[in-house]
Amino acid sequence: MKLRSWFSLPVWIVACVLLPAGRSVSGAGTVRLAIEADKPGPTISRHIYGHFSEHLGRCIYEGLWVGPDSPIPNTRGMRNDVVAALKKIRIPNLRWPGGCFADEYHWMDGIGPQEKRPSIVNVHWGGVTENNHFGTHEFLELCEQLGTDPYICGNVGSGEVREMRDWVEYMTMDGVSPMADLRRMNGRDKAWKVPFFGVGNENWGCGGNMTPEFYADQYRRYATFVRDFGGNHVYRIACGSNGFDYRWTEVLMERAGRQMQGLSLHYYCGTGRKSRSATKFEEDDWFHLLRSALRMEELVTRTGDIMDRFDREKRVGMMVDEWGTWHEVEPGTNPGFLYQQNTLRDALVAGLTLNIFNRHADRVRMANIAQLVNVLQAVILTDKEKMLLTPTYHVYEMYTVHHDATLLPLTLLTPDYAFGNEKIPSVSASASRDKAGRVHVTLCNLDPNHPVDVVGDIAGATVKTVRGRVLTAPAMQAHNTFEQPETVKPVEFGDAKAGERGFTATLPAKSVVVLELE
Ligand code: AHR
Repeated sequence: MKLRSWFSLPVWIVACVLLPAGRSVSGAGTVRLAIEADKPGPTISRHIYGHFSEHLGRCIYEGLWVGPDSPIPNTRGMRNDVVAALKKIRIPNLRWPGGCFADEYHWMDGIGPQEKRPSIVNVHWGGVTENNHFGTHEFLELCEQLGTDPYICGNVGSGEVREMRDWVEYMTMDGVSPMADLRRMNGRDKAWKVPFFGVGNENWGCGGNMTPEFYADQYRRYATFVRDFGGNHVYRIACGSNGFDYRWTEVLMERAGRQMQGLSLHYYCGTGRKSRSATKFEEDDWFHLLRSALRMEELVTRTGDIMDRFDREKRVGMMVDEWGTWHEVEPGTNPGFLYQQNTLRDALVAGLTLNIFNRHADRVRMANIAQLVNVLQAVILTDKEKMLLTPTYHVYEMYTVHHDATLLPLTLLTPDYAFGNEKIPSVSASASRDKAGRVHVTLCNLDPNHPVDVVGDIAGATVKTVRGRVLTAPAMQAHNTFEQPETVKPVEFGDAKAGERGFTATLPAKSVVVLELE
């Protein structure tokens, strides 16, 4: 770097750059943010904003599918209210049918006349009997209604290579073939596009308890038969590690890196330290959960470093295809159904995690929060004919501005949020420029007690106006209920203005803010 350019940077950034790597960059009081709009980074794939729907509890049945004869308004069996709400957040891809369910699922049970489909027992999730009324045709119909890309997860744990091969042919073969003909007999003439295919799920656990060496060989074999039929190009995704199991990543990249387009990664940040309740918790639990969520930064950085050793060109995408909070189920509900409420705390987890993915957009190409409706960190909850949008939904809506936008590098100097003897950075941020040239900055103030001032320096763009929206509430535990569905929702943000070098803003305590700079 030329000496001249050092002088053109604000003094505090020079100080940050000179700090030893890994040292926390904390400052008192004010947050300083330097955005390099003149040094655009990679595209933030819209697929980072992907979702996951498993045959689990009331996600598929009731949450998405009610059947054509239901009194709940539906279009060919899909709930109209849920589909309309999901279209607003432009969900880019949807993973299905699991999860652990995927390695028990035999797709041929879910095609043909519904009344003739065999029942199966959902051994992982409550041991309930599943009638298979929602199968391949229904899932792909749902994706068409949503305008989203299907991401199918195949069965390696208990399925055969031929079964996986035939499934891909059934869905994507346009010409004449045994599987395409069977699809036509079942009422669908035109082949579907299936751009994403997962070769097994959690094969280190519920998907077969395999070693990485064994799975790498299995992956190579199964993935060979996941064919591109006609104009359909499949992005093959290998099962990645269980959180911090870096050895799994290393073995997979070394032995099967060349056969994959994507490698998954699962990380659930969990719940509080003293209370596991989604809604009844104190500051200790707030702090603990946000600190666990921030570990996603370490996880994607170290996983990315390992991937770089085998794939310097970053050809293989990191696909964080399961992530989110995992609280105790709501009292009185089936423990196997993983139904949990969703508070402002979950919204902060979503906001800071999506900021991390954005900042790692050079390697992170997809992420899928678990799960879409009524399960874990859902964006939508339903109760028969009623539906509500969770605080996490609102974060996804606010962050749509980043879909396929260009990442802008940023440097952040933030005070710490301390709790007892422990501390975490109080603010998380990411920035991008959209196709119309507007810069968007998303900011999360993790401190539940103090607002924070932000001074934003923008190199390479002049800011004339700043608009914003904010998601916050008086209480950490604030959440939406079927009786009061609008307790937590975004509103106009008036505490930001254009400044000489960029903008200034005051973020309320415990808030997620999106700014639009023009
Ligand atoms: O999302 C719930 C479960 O968590 C999934 O089925 C599994 O893949 C993971 O362990």
